[in-house]
Amino acid sequence: MSASVKVLGISGSLRRNSYNTAALRAAQELAPPDMRIEMADLSAIPLYNQDEQDRQVPESVARLVAQVQAADAILFATPEYNYSVPGVLKNAIDWVSRAKP
Ligand SMILES: Cc1cc2nc3c(=O)[nH]c(=O)nc-3n(C[C@H](O)[C@H](O)[C@H](O)COP(=O)(O)O)c2cc1C
Repeated sequence: MSASVKVLGISGSLRRNSYNTAALRAAQELAPPDMRIEMADLSAIPLYNQDEQDRQVPESVARLVAQVQAADAILFATPEYNYSVPGVLKNAIDWVSRAKP
């Protein structure tokens, strides 16, 4: 039976032993049979640059956009950095928010 709910897990931490990434992995393992949680990889996303976007969207960004478009829901797990979200996560959201349909 194919999964009926596709969830994209996005961790706001690139740290190898990140608690947030571990929480997403636990969610993957505990997901019900009709739910599949795929993990995004933000490690290769460059800093947002509109010139680069106009020229050619980087492969790592195109992959993330495709994952977001294919998902029914997004599950964020992120640390707090200085009372806000980590720059890595904000940067990824900036890229995806400017994606051409
Ligand atoms: C640059 C930086 C800023 C942080 N700012 C906060 C903060 O504002 N509040 C807080 O509770 N923890 C803060 N922390 C601690 C992290 O939230 C904590 O180390 C967390 O476990 C990191 O998540 P991870 O285990 O998924 O990598 C900060 C850590 C770093 C590196």
